[in-house]
Amino acid sequence: MNYTSHYSVLNKESIDYLFKDIKEDENNLLFSDFTFGAGGHTFSILNRSENAKVVSFDQDPEALENGRSRIENESVSERCFLVDSNFENFKKVIDEQFSDLVKDCGGFDGIVMDLGVSSHHFDSGERGFSFRVDAPLDMRMDVDNSEIQTAQHIVNNYSEEELNLLIRDYGEEKFHRRIVKNIIDKRSVAPIETTWQLADLIRLAYPAKLRHGKIHPATKTFQALRIEVNRELEVLEKVLDQIVPFLKNNGKIAVISFHSLEDRIVKQAFKKLETREDFLFEVLTKRPVIPSKDEVSENSRSRSAKLRVVQRVEQKKNKNKYAQFSKVNKN
Ligand SMILES: C[S@@+](CC[C@H](N)C(=O)[O-])C[C@H]1O[C@@H](n2cnc3c(N)ncnc32)[C@H](O)[C@@H]1O
Repeated sequence: MNYTSHYSVLNKESIDYLFKDIKEDENNLLFSDFTFGAGGHTFSILNRSENAKVVSFDQDPEALENGRSRIENESVSERCFLVDSNFENFKKVIDEQFSDLVKDCGGFDGIVMDLGVSSHHFDSGERGFSFRVDAPLDMRMDVDNSEIQTAQHIVNNYSEEELNLLIRDYGEEKFHRRIVKNIIDKRSVAPIETTWQLADLIRLAYPAKLRHGKIHPATKTFQALRIEVNRELEVLEKVLDQIVPFLKNNGKIAVISFHSLEDRIVKQAFKKLETREDFLFEVLTKRPVIPSKDEVSENSRSRSAKLRVVQRVEQKKNKNKYAQFSKVNKN
């Protein structure tokens, strides 16, 4: 698999946020990259400060294997720790493997998540993420985990209603009923096994005049299946609360999402963090940061990216103002 052509989306913007309020010579900096991929964000952190260490997760063993050799080549192995795990296990992994490091550094200065699959998943046809190549319908990021149900299993075993909800909600696909009808008809004759079989029957479910547009009719359904196979929304919702006690004061969480469902989860979770009383948080991005025109023209996959950042703070600006006000009133 080729990792050299990977574009790291909103890289400078997200890393600038992570380093906001950090002094140049500050020591014991600790970060976590939840989605190592080709290492774009991890290496930007390591290059920004020689005092920075990064614990980087990826559930795709191929991504980590590629990362290991790059870490050796760039002589950063003492500052970069790769973890072969779903980031939903963050707390467990930190408690079991990195508790001394976290203690020495006093917690995490920042967490970055660049969600979803990487370009390599699409580019390497055999993984089943793309309909550009004919391959078994797999779509598992964690290919070593045989307990995860593949896209093939879902397409051939979910009920008609389950498929309708899945493709409607996760794919935001308005022709979901026509697509599911075609799936049910086809699978009653023989199982649907490959990307091209599925893409073809989706194309035929579309009204004839919409079958040859710029975006392939199967795009949204493939997105829905990928989200379901990898439980992408569930793990995202689950992990945000786990991070909170590990953040230093001024520590940030930066999340780059690629579709409205993810972005909604991030936006709401950040709002919820702002209402906590045990730890104080402030959202730094009132509106999500989006890629520049230049970035989109260089890498069209970045066009739907949105970055949101929240920071743990010692005192809330507004809250503080009201606290003083109520003190004055009491006296
Ligand atoms: C968009 S890519 C990250 C690219 C990376 N930021 C870069 O600039 O090179 C997402 C990566 O995160 C991994 N990933 C996605 N969800 C994950 C999860 N829940 N746990 C661990 N890794 C995950 C994928 O396998 C993929 O390699």
